[in-house]
Amino acid sequence: MSSFWSGWVIFFTALTIGASVWLLYANRKVEVRGEEPKTGHVYDGIEEYDNPLPRWWFNLFLLSVAFSVVYLLLYPGLGNFPGLLGWNSIDQWRREVDAAEARYAPLYARYRALPVEELSADPEAMKMARRLFNNHCSQCHGADARGGYGFPNLTDDDWLYGGTPEAIETTIRRGRSGAMPAWGEILGAEGVENVAHYVLSLSGADHDPVRAAAGAPLFASYCAACHGPDGKGNPALGAPNLTDGVWLYGGSLEMVKYSIRNGRSNRMPPQEAFLDDDRIHLLVAYVWGLSRRP
Ligand code: HEC
Ligand code: HEC
Repeated sequence: MSSFWSGWVIFFTALTIGASVWLLYANRKVEVRGEEPKTGHVYDGIEEYDNPLPRWWFNLFLLSVAFSVVYLLLYPGLGNFPGLLGWNSIDQWRREVDAAEARYAPLYARYRALPVEELSADPEAMKMARRLFNNHCSQCHGADARGGYGFPNLTDDDWLYGGTPEAIETTIRRGRSGAMPAWGEILGAEGVENVAHYVLSLSGADHDPVRAAAGAPLFASYCAACHGPDGKGNPALGAPNLTDGVWLYGGSLEMVKYSIRNGRSNRMPPQEAFLDDDRIHLLVAYVWGLSRRP
């Protein structure tokens, strides 16, 4: 804020306070003896006295003016003037964060030393981890971690990129991006239909066996490179297992055809910049434990 605007704010603040005091005193009538003065307003024969404010009320007004002056001298409020106490909300926030860090540091250090398998069985640690998950992950994976359209379910034991603690940690730190090219032009409508029926047959879903048989060789030449010859996927590429009935985008014939025709691409952003090692370790244990809880 430039010093002109700061001066502007200070000027009008002071003017407002001054005007309030003037207004208070200007309306304060000296006690009149004898006949009580009236305003001259009459409603249905009822007249209005023109009395000063009660003393206690008047004093309350003065007190609030005095309070605002003292407040504005001590705390920031008058333009750029920082206040005599030098208080500001950023410092206060920083002090609170530092205090919290100091309080939780030993706790995090203890959790850090535990292997993921053990940590995921510690209810106190998992309570903290769930809060972290809600803050950093639930907007995509859902508060219950069951994911949604295009967002993987983290509570089943089906993994795009692998469910070992190491794989989960890499996912959280570096993010992931899975991409599948579009096949509509290459396979044509007929080819897409056939290979879709073959894909459905892999998980035992309803399909047309004649079309599936026609799709099998297409799958072997166009899809097996990523999804594997048996369709069980490839965690190095994030190519989903197509045989388990778990779908990232839905397993209806229409959805499967859509995935094949248009391709898919998906990205989990890296979280390393938002989370320190201690918190990542907690989250790895949390995610690892989700699919192993009874
Ligand atoms: C902006 C959305 C978004 C946020 C935030 C996000 N994720 Fe993800 N996550 C995704 C997407 C999308 C994928 C799937 C990527 C793919 O298909 O290639 C994914 C994949 C994953 C996987 C791999 C699942 C598998 O089957 O291999 C894990 C584990 C995971 N996320 C955990 C987390 C955790 C823990 C957090 C919080 C620290 C988090 N994610 C935050 C969108 C997000
Ligand atoms: C270059 C590697 C690659 C090739 C080749 C490929 N895919 Fe994919 N496919 C992927 C990846 C990676 C995903 C997941 C994309 C994501 O995370 O959004 C995927 C997703 C899918 C899905 C969606 C699965 C779900 O759970 O919703 C289907 C269906 C599919 N592929 C079928 C096929 C078929 C059929 C072919 C051959 C015509 C094929 N793919 C070829 C890499 C590939």
